[in-house]
Amino acid sequence: MDWNSELSVEDKNCQIELIQSVELPVHLAIIMDGNGRWAVEKKLPRIAGHEEGIESVRDIVKASSQLGIKFLTLYAFSIENWKRPITEVTGLMKLLEHYLKAEINELHKNNVKINTIGKLNSLPKQIQKLLTDSMERTASNTGLTLTLALSYSGRWDIVRAVQMIGLDVRRGKISPEDINEELFSSYLQTNTMPNPDYLIRTSGEMRLSNFLLWEMAYGEIYISNKYWPQFRRNDLYEALYSYANRERRFGMTSSQINSSDITEKNSYFKRVVDVFKKL
Ligand code: IPE
Ligand code: IPE
Ligand code: MG
Repeated sequence: MDWNSELSVEDKNCQIELIQSVELPVHLAIIMDGNGRWAVEKKLPRIAGHEEGIESVRDIVKASSQLGIKFLTLYAFSIENWKRPITEVTGLMKLLEHYLKAEINELHKNNVKINTIGKLNSLPKQIQKLLTDSMERTASNTGLTLTLALSYSGRWDIVRAVQMIGLDVRRGKISPEDINEELFSSYLQTNTMPNPDYLIRTSGEMRLSNFLLWEMAYGEIYISNKYWPQFRRNDLYEALYSYANRERRFGMTSSQINSSDITEKNSYFKRVVDVFKKL
């Protein structure tokens, strides 16, 4: 199904208004939290919360793609999450497998490029295979890049980068003086995307929980009090309006920021609006 053709008139108008009036983040990252509490409040097993959370993933991925967001990174499973009860971990892995199998065709048809970050070799073999197949199949897609953070932690990726830099120094490929922020970033698994502009965390928790620690140096943060299974496209629109009211100063003063050249960004948004007008 072509996602743009299934938009209701009301939703399409909402999206056009959003695109015309606010500057969207190029890279949106989400900590999808609160599945367990959502289920417990409903007197359901925690896994039911993860199941319903998948419906939110579907809706947010679609809406992000329709809005023309270029990068969406979802924190689906942290390295620390392996410490959860085995039944929950197994249930989550089954759901992940099911999601990938069920969605890959539709994601591909809608020009989504699948990407992953994390310690992938710690995942069950069949999931590793599904992920590599999905990445290969969608490698040349040019729409939304959907990155699934699986068995991921920010510190793990930083330490891994340090180890690889150490090896390259030893091999004589680089010298210690070459190490700067740009070179360091190029050793991280996130090296194919820009840093996140906006991070949404659901369920009211105000922490990073080891997500994109290096990359979030200047990313804006939005906390939603809804549990992830309740978070749907209208909540995303609300979060995006809030992003528009931020002033990102990157350490500079307000007047320096306001005099900077925004022509390029404006032309990007005009292009996105033109695409929607043609629908
Ligand atoms: C987020 O929901 C999903 C994962 C971490 C896999 P939780 O499972 O953390 O739900 P809460 O935070 O316990 O409610
Ligand atoms: C963060 O949620 C990880 C994911 C959403 C995948 P957690 O529920 O694991 O984080 P803490 O334990 O509340 O910090
Ligand atoms: Mg949680």
